[in-house]
Amino acid sequence: MEGKGKGRPLTVAIDGPAGAGKSTVARSVAQKLGYLYLDTGAMYRAITLKALQQNVPLDDEGALTRLACETVLEWQAPQAGIPGGPKLYMDGVDVSEAIRHPRVTKAVSLVARVPGVRQRLIQLQRRFAEQGGVVVDGRDIGTVVLPHAECKFYLTASLEERARRRQRELAQQGMPAEMEEVKSALAWRDTIDSGREISPLRPAEDAVIIDTTGRSVEEVVEQIYSLCKEKEAL
Ligand code: DC
Repeated sequence: MEGKGKGRPLTVAIDGPAGAGKSTVARSVAQKLGYLYLDTGAMYRAITLKALQQNVPLDDEGALTRLACETVLEWQAPQAGIPGGPKLYMDGVDVSEAIRHPRVTKAVSLVARVPGVRQRLIQLQRRFAEQGGVVVDGRDIGTVVLPHAECKFYLTASLEERARRRQRELAQQGMPAEMEEVKSALAWRDTIDSGREISPLRPAEDAVIIDTTGRSVEEVVEQIYSLCKEKEAL
């Protein structure tokens, strides 16, 4: 936690499409700054998991909204010496791994486009961020959730590179997949996430846009960290 206590705690928003490297970068930047990290995609995934578990039709907006409103989501910070990010508990159960299942990944964009679900989760996300000293990653953080964030970044990368990264991730999780399949699934999610009426994926006007194609995680982390430290010192 290199930067802890040295400056004014900021709110850092990191948005971008699936596979742009947001969560790895955001988690690492948070650690370097000594900030909390919030993965908002995980929250949409948790509601999607619950909807699948309860056989709620993914086009039933009322039922999905009720589900989001009655679900308790809690984060537990990672324990010292144990690798990995914060754990997400849904109604008291650790769902950190279950929310990464391909079934959830496939369905999540449909749940994330429901206005009532977004309203509920945005309320929780704002509450989490209200003290500052946070790095929040998602699709609409700089535009809708935290429009007054002092630091905004929009991470992007070519579809090919994002698909390569996702394929590698899936293989590491013991779920190998064909390149073309991964690519078309990403493209489909991009279309829904950017095309939806409410909070579509797009960079905030004041966001720093970073193309991570061909760049290492360390390089991108360093760029974001330096910009945040400059702002912290102001
Ligand atoms: O970052 P991710 O792949 O875990 O996100 C899962 C889905 O959640 C993604 O398809 C879009 C949606 N999402 C969103 O609509 N708004 C956010 N702030 C975060 C994620």
